[in-house]
Amino acid sequence: RHEPLLAPSLLASDLANLQATAETLAGAEADWLHFDVMDGRFVPNISFGLPVLEALRPHARQPIDVHLMIEQPENYLAAFRDAGATNITVHYETCPHLHRVVEQIKSLGCTAGVALNPATPVSLLEDIAADLDVVLIMSVNPGFGGQTFIPNTLRKVAALKELLLDQGSGALIEVDGGVNETNAGPLVEAGADVLVAGSFVFKSPGGAVPTLARLRKKLR
Ligand code: DX5
Ligand code: ZN
Repeated sequence: RHEPLLAPSLLASDLANLQATAETLAGAEADWLHFDVMDGRFVPNISFGLPVLEALRPHARQPIDVHLMIEQPENYLAAFRDAGATNITVHYETCPHLHRVVEQIKSLGCTAGVALNPATPVSLLEDIAADLDVVLIMSVNPGFGGQTFIPNTLRKVAALKELLLDQGSGALIEVDGGVNETNAGPLVEAGADVLVAGSFVFKSPGGAVPTLARLRKKLR
């Protein structure tokens, strides 16, 4: 079993202190910083966007993994690249011209991810899998941190793993929503390469740094 990348989700952190959080995470067991953008249209919540990413960027040591939960993401790709995105993930459900959007992300010099809501089957990615750097499986309905992990995700990750192998795709499998110490091991067994965790990392009593260290050790 391989060791997954860990991507703490800043949404669950103290948003009045993003600089301090980024500096703390610089020395922590964090591989990517996960940045959740919500528009109040595609998802029933509004988080933060371009100016916040731009403010965060000079303080961030790790690559920034931008998760766009917004309609018409194609209108904002260049702006997110300019603001500091390393990876840009768009939702399958927001992109009738997904292939074009993926090519746009890559032509900007970012890696490209596609996210699937819990009810969206992995089979829909068959014809685009080989073009992707990341597939993000939502293990909750997007829009809020702190929700409960949907158990069917494990089967979905395993099915995606098989699809990626069939299609000769090297895309990383990322899982987002309700990830914790209990489901992390099974997720990696099923094929997950990147684990996003918000509440578990930032709301654990020990604090983010020891929690990430514990998770890393457990997955080793
Ligand atoms: C949910 C976001 C997630 C969220 C994860 O819409 O995409 O990244 O921050 O938070 P937890 O780990 O608390 O479910
Ligand atoms: Zn996310």
